[in-house]
Amino acid sequence: MAPYTRQNKVLPLMTQDELKLAVAQAAVEYILPKLNIDTIVGVGTGSTANFFIDELIKHRHLFDGTVASSEASAERLKKGGVNVYDLNSVDNITVYIDGADESNEYLHLIKGGGAALTREKIVTACSDEFICIADQSKLVDVLGDFPLPIEVIPMARSYVARELVKLGGDPVYREGVVTDNGNHILDVYNLKIVNPVKLEADINAIVGVVTNGLFAARNADVLLLATPNGVKKLTAK
Ligand code: 5RP
Repeated sequence: MAPYTRQNKVLPLMTQDELKLAVAQAAVEYILPKLNIDTIVGVGTGSTANFFIDELIKHRHLFDGTVASSEASAERLKKGGVNVYDLNSVDNITVYIDGADESNEYLHLIKGGGAALTREKIVTACSDEFICIADQSKLVDVLGDFPLPIEVIPMARSYVARELVKLGGDPVYREGVVTDNGNHILDVYNLKIVNPVKLEADINAIVGVVTNGLFAARNADVLLLATPNGVKKLTAK
């Protein structure tokens, strides 16, 4: 993939927003050959996804429409003239593009910093291909420095928190946040996640958990990673 350049000069120092823009542009370039008038694109949530949405809008005539993983993304897409479909009215999503809070080299992810993890996981499950877009700060050796978001049914919040302590984490209630599904978020600190697939299943087995922000059983297929030397394409090890 071509390095991100301005006036043909590779930029050694880039702001995080410039990196996000570069990876959003690379993602659009990556999916363009997959688009036709019937294509449905899955669209994620967050600041990197917003850059992607703004780039995607420029190509809205090339595909049918989108399924969005949050009300915020749906709103941004609609404002840009892009069709947004209810997932239940769609047979197939060709490709899903979304950011992440952390990724390891196996493209296991932590997501949910924007509290949209459940819808993100549902759209991921329905998509043929999952392209994660991120700047280089998100690539880590071991997941868990970023607190793991868990969406919980409100009445189960304290019970789930006690169960998470038994798993070795320090859950903190994300006060004032209600998800698009009407639920609460616990952010779990101090987990060194050496087996993301197992931890994802263990946490999801706690009664009252809607889902957790580990995307490991279904990881990303491709990670487009923005660096000052260009956007790198990584596939799972
Ligand atoms: C939202 C998410 C986002 O993809 C994640 O938080 C990354 O966001 P950003 O691109 O703003 O860093 O999972 O629930």
